[in-house]
Amino acid sequence: MKPVKVGVLGLGTVGGGTVNVLKRNAVEIARRAGREIVITRASAKDLTKARICDTQGIALTTDPFEIINDPDIDIIVELIGGCGAVKDMVLQAIANGKHVVTANKSLLALHGNEIFAKASEKGVMVAFEAAVAGGIPVIKAIREGLSANHIEWLAGIINGTGNFILTEMRDKGRDFNDVLAEAQALGYAEADPTFDVEGIDAGHKLTILASIAFGMPLQFDKVYTEGITQITRADVEYAEQLGYRIKHLGIARKTPEGIELRVHPTLIPDRRLIANVDGVMNAVVVKGDAAGPTLYYGAGAGSEPTASSVVADVVDVVRALTSDPENRVPHLAFQADALVDIPV
Ligand code: HSE
Repeated sequence: MKPVKVGVLGLGTVGGGTVNVLKRNAVEIARRAGREIVITRASAKDLTKARICDTQGIALTTDPFEIINDPDIDIIVELIGGCGAVKDMVLQAIANGKHVVTANKSLLALHGNEIFAKASEKGVMVAFEAAVAGGIPVIKAIREGLSANHIEWLAGIINGTGNFILTEMRDKGRDFNDVLAEAQALGYAEADPTFDVEGIDAGHKLTILASIAFGMPLQFDKVYTEGITQITRADVEYAEQLGYRIKHLGIARKTPEGIELRVHPTLIPDRRLIANVDGVMNAVVVKGDAAGPTLYYGAGAGSEPTASSVVADVVDVVRALTSDPENRVPHLAFQADALVDIPV
């Protein structure tokens, strides 16, 4: 069988990690996917920049549309981030009949309803495991592992940068801005780090999780959003003395009135598992009526953890490509026509 050809848009922290993981584990990945997967093209804003990956064998361009419009490319992996031009890129890729894998939570939280509807019309898949909680396969866990359950609520630490800041403030008494600068240097933070510290990034991720868990449209504008910028070192220390940890949580809960969506700092008793999730790690608890509470834990940001989810989505798309399209279970494509409007 011919190799599947992938075009990667963006060669930053996650794009570079994706190239590295796909090259390093090519043989195992091909075995699991049932086909060889090759990144043949990639785009980057500045081709002269030093990279974390070896781009040998990959044709580079500064114009993402060259790749999107290339009939030879089967799957577009969008790792540029943000909305605006990137939305046009994803819509163009879908219009061209290409499957899309993306880590772009803001794009999906704000424009996902339109994007998934277009993807359904066109019969292509849009996969987005890497958009939520980095290397934790939490989307698959909810959609596949818990598919028998009525989901009652979910709650979790879903921003690695914010959790890293709170942990370093507590453990080492470090200054907020100093830790944020380190998170940026480590490639954890968003291009605009106010998204991390003001709860916007967590709000985007919660919007996506709630949509999967409750089968409702994406409604970021309904999320109550509060970040960690008002938290001081004194707050962190007082919480500790009282036997609590301050954690920034995203919470989605079914209530008799509708779905409650909120992100904000919370006080959690220090004996709880989630209170001990530190640094860049994320953790999400999902409460299903049959399974009860289940907990998912892992790195919430960073090059290879996020790349792990990107490549897993590419593998899923490739597996679906090899199945009969008539009988393909659209477990990755969002089923836009099956959404239920629930008051939020
Ligand atoms: N800035 C995000 C975070 C990256 O820190 O969680 C992963 O989505």
